[in-house]
Amino acid sequence: MEILFTLNGKRITVETPPDRRVVDLLREDLGLTGAKECCGSGECGACAILVDGSSRLSCLMAAVQLEDRRVVTIEGLSGEGALHPIQEAFIQAGAIQCGYCTPGMVMATADLLRRNPKPSRTEIREALSGNLCRCTGYQKIVDAVELAAARLQEHGK
Ligand code: FES
Ligand code: FES
Repeated sequence: MEILFTLNGKRITVETPPDRRVVDLLREDLGLTGAKECCGSGECGACAILVDGSSRLSCLMAAVQLEDRRVVTIEGLSGEGALHPIQEAFIQAGAIQCGYCTPGMVMATADLLRRNPKPSRTEIREALSGNLCRCTGYQKIVDAVELAAARLQEHGK
């Protein structure tokens, strides 16, 4: 079927089976490999994308659910050629090791800071509880989210 939606700021139409998983549609059909697949069953958060501003797990979504939605992947979070302040904060705080979890962490952070621009460390941990990282021990990820919150407030975003 034809599905019309907005992807990273552009209206697009895709021809796809309605039950195609969104993670496959993005990665295999549209070449956007930023969202990662790890568990494939809603357990790890590596595949997170923003749908109408909320973090959603693309491994659990079917293509038909994108109809008329506004989808942002990690590739479209910032303007061209620039990193988003959340991405800069993750780098500066040393919150990235292998990087596999990072796109999902960044998208979950974008969702959190939209809803709650100044979260406590407890609120950050709760918001990212669905995002697993096997490398960092999480401390630096929480630091990164705090730093990102401060940066976004400075920039008035
Ligand atoms: S790959 Fe989607 S939650 Fe793990
Ligand atoms: S940095 Fe390796 S899984 Fe998080």
